[in-house]
Amino acid sequence: MSKKTILTGDRPTGPLHLGHFVGSLKARIELQEEHRQFVMIADAQALTDYADRPELVRQNILQVALDYLSVGIDPKKTTIFIQSLVPALFELTVYYLNLVTWNRLKHNPTVKLEIQQKGYGENVPAGFMVYPISQAADITAFKADLVPVGEDQIPMIEQTIEVVRKFNRMYNCGVLVEPKVMVSSIARLPGIDGKAKMGKSLGNAIFLSDSADDVAKKVKGMYTDPGHLRVEDPGKVEGNPVFTYLDAFGKDKSKIEELKAHYQRGGLGDSVVKKYLGEVLQEFLEPIRQRRKEFEKDPAEVMRLLKEGTRIAQDTAGKTLSEVRAAMGIDYF
Ligand code: TRP
Repeated sequence: MSKKTILTGDRPTGPLHLGHFVGSLKARIELQEEHRQFVMIADAQALTDYADRPELVRQNILQVALDYLSVGIDPKKTTIFIQSLVPALFELTVYYLNLVTWNRLKHNPTVKLEIQQKGYGENVPAGFMVYPISQAADITAFKADLVPVGEDQIPMIEQTIEVVRKFNRMYNCGVLVEPKVMVSSIARLPGIDGKAKMGKSLGNAIFLSDSADDVAKKVKGMYTDPGHLRVEDPGKVEGNPVFTYLDAFGKDKSKIEELKAHYQRGGLGDSVVKKYLGEVLQEFLEPIRQRRKEFEKDPAEVMRLLKEGTRIAQDTAGKTLSEVRAAMGIDYF
């Protein structure tokens, strides 16, 4: 009974990458041991900006599920489900939309940034504009205590907390639970191009499903310290993604510290550091690849796991919806 509940999710718009691993997958693998965990494939949210490409969203449901399973999210411990098949989420969204102002929605910093990046200008799809409220429905439907996500999702959790408080106050109840955000110590992994964020649409990602060859090529081409021209020059470690990745994935911390010191002193070539990073990443990714191969043999079984998880999610979210309707006094029959 005292187990805390976790809910997180990903939009199925492409394969998951190392940034997802560091930002949230890793936490999920650990959290599933001691918590009641739900992981949602957020296809309905993906459609808020991919309405014209439902087939892409559809394809990526299986891909994201394979990513989950191959990193070690265990369907016996974690309920994995598909968002659009849980109708309670959309009913909750509609009720919650009345508790938030249009002005507040316009000021969600993540949404603002995305509107810019996507070049929507004045023509933001209404569904996109309100997706933080749909996310509040996702989180509260499961009465999640903890939401492990990347840093960019903090505004969503803040907005969820506002909805929870407003709902409980307005309807004089304690039905909804306030979630806490959980951000990993490495808040975000830079791209292989040195840009602040690894992104599937930015062309700077190493995917969990990349082949050994692809990973080797990507590491070779990685951005490092642009001022480190000759081997004997002292190089910068801060802001150098090669070292950020080593910190995130390397096990031999003392070796990494030595490499850093040597690099900063001068005399250590980028190619040597990259070669080591290549080995570290292959060692990390190989078991993931192997597990993926096993699950890929039977996609129907993966879909069956999703179906089973979705049934559990429907039950859980349906119960919360009944409580919400009762609290609002719209439980007519
Ligand atoms: N917005 C999240 C992302 O882009 C996905 C998501 C949807 C989510 N609903 C959620 C994350 C609820 C946590 C909780 O990664």
